[in-house]
Amino acid sequence: MQPGSILCVTLGGAATPVLEALIARGWDVTQAGDLVAAGRIQAHRHFKVGLLIVGTSLIVAEAAVEACVNASPGSEWICLCEAEALEHTGLRELVLGCFFDHQVLPVDLDELEMTLQHASQRALLRLRHDAAHRHAVDALGMVGQGPAITRLRQQIRKVAATDAPVLIGGESGSGKELAARAIHQCSHRSAGPFVAVNCGAISPNLIQSELFGHERGAFTGASSERRGLIEAANGGTIFLDEIGDLPVELQTNLLRFLQEKTINRVGAVRSLHVDVRVVAASHVDLAEAVAVGQFRDDLFYRLNVLSIEVAPLRRRMEDVPILAEYFFQRCAAKSRARVKGFSRQAVAAMLAHAWPGNVRELFNRVQRAVVMTDRRLIGPNDLGLAPVDNPVGMGLDAARTVAERDAIVLTLTRVGRNITHAARELGVSRMTLYRLMDKHSIALDAGPRPHVTPPWSAPTAPLQPLRPAPAGHPLDAMLGTPAAGAFHADWTGVDKPVGRA
Ligand SMILES: Nc1ncnc2c1ncn2[C@@H]1O[C@H](COP(=O)(O)OP(=O)(O)O)[C@@H](O)[C@H]1O
Ligand SMILES: [Mg+2]
Repeated sequence: MQPGSILCVTLGGAATPVLEALIARGWDVTQAGDLVAAGRIQAHRHFKVGLLIVGTSLIVAEAAVEACVNASPGSEWICLCEAEALEHTGLRELVLGCFFDHQVLPVDLDELEMTLQHASQRALLRLRHDAAHRHAVDALGMVGQGPAITRLRQQIRKVAATDAPVLIGGESGSGKELAARAIHQCSHRSAGPFVAVNCGAISPNLIQSELFGHERGAFTGASSERRGLIEAANGGTIFLDEIGDLPVELQTNLLRFLQEKTINRVGAVRSLHVDVRVVAASHVDLAEAVAVGQFRDDLFYRLNVLSIEVAPLRRRMEDVPILAEYFFQRCAAKSRARVKGFSRQAVAAMLAHAWPGNVRELFNRVQRAVVMTDRRLIGPNDLGLAPVDNPVGMGLDAARTVAERDAIVLTLTRVGRNITHAARELGVSRMTLYRLMDKHSIALDAGPRPHVTPPWSAPTAPLQPLRPAPAGHPLDAMLGTPAAGAFHADWTGVDKPVGRA
């Protein structure tokens, strides 16, 4: 292999003989006498390999060296120092965490050249790897390459071209808010505000004045006039999350706003014109809420002009590794963690998990693993996932059977054990579903159904677990998250019962 170009940062020690020897062997060496000069050079030119030469001790702060090393993310670094310098914990930590390799002076040039070549090859590999992943993240911050996310992107661009209300459906954590932001960003309103409101999180007696604003003296405590959130979104988009939680009387006000584009602050006589696009989202099925009288049908039809469904993560498992890698990069860049990525077992465990908490759950698990792992590669345990036992030896038929059973139990769980809905979701007739349930010994407990079926209502005992329940992760206690279903309350019910027997 040909000698390449390297950036050499000399912070002390007898650097000159080493550099001269490397130049004599054909290396293109750019030298920086301190970290400031190194920063200037890095701003203009990318080096696959950096060489840091330290004498007997580090004469600058470790953090400054770390910043220099991280300034060009695609580079690999090698440290040359006296053995004495490695007595200092700070330098040892730096070398172990941020450097490809180190060598002790006096240098063995053959060995150094070999290390430089290896580092260069590794940098090249990383560059190719990053390039392959980069186009998975679009300008909207949405990661994924599978057919489901591709379709979602197309739908987002279509609806963004209009000004009509949009209703986004999908389970909690699947990316509804991200989709709403993307619609705003792609629309002609992108320079205007994007205001997100969680209708379920504001107390019912405050929500009217929060949304519509109030005049001075409109009620006890209204000592001054106040703009509401809809007014604050003027010229932009308001995102009404969990719109199913909006009290019925406010549904009437919202309908008036959608029809007439005017609002009345609480206590106001005059109405105000506002130019705001509404994007709403709900994790409950609003059509069902309409059917049981909990949601106004006229508002539903008005909102449902354009509707988008964000698929649950388990229906687009092809995106799991890319999303995991993306979140890993984001978390690892922020922390001083030395962790390099996921082990093969971790990837297998992620592909076997049903992700009831969807993308949010994946993000939370990766974030926690990056902070808590002591290893170079994140393992299933760090993610709080059960290791997959020998998936390779399972055989295709067995794997199909397991997948079929998984799909049925998950769907039944999600639709509150409603056979008609489950059959529709699974794309089979009710008779076929009964037959398959019989084949897999899945019993259906005729428990009372809630009015509006929560998508993750916990199944009762007869829905047998498919996989061993991931036990409450021991780290949950340390991080102060509840042990069972640690990440998001919405999937608490599912994390336990869904698993393989
Ligand atoms: N396709 C995606 N690419 C990157 N991040 C995503 C994607 N989908 C969801 N997320 C992230 O997952 C988390 C949950 O998404 P969010 O939009 O809040 O879900 P929802 O509104 O459906 O509950 C957020 O941190 C979001 O940025
Ligand atoms: Mg949300």
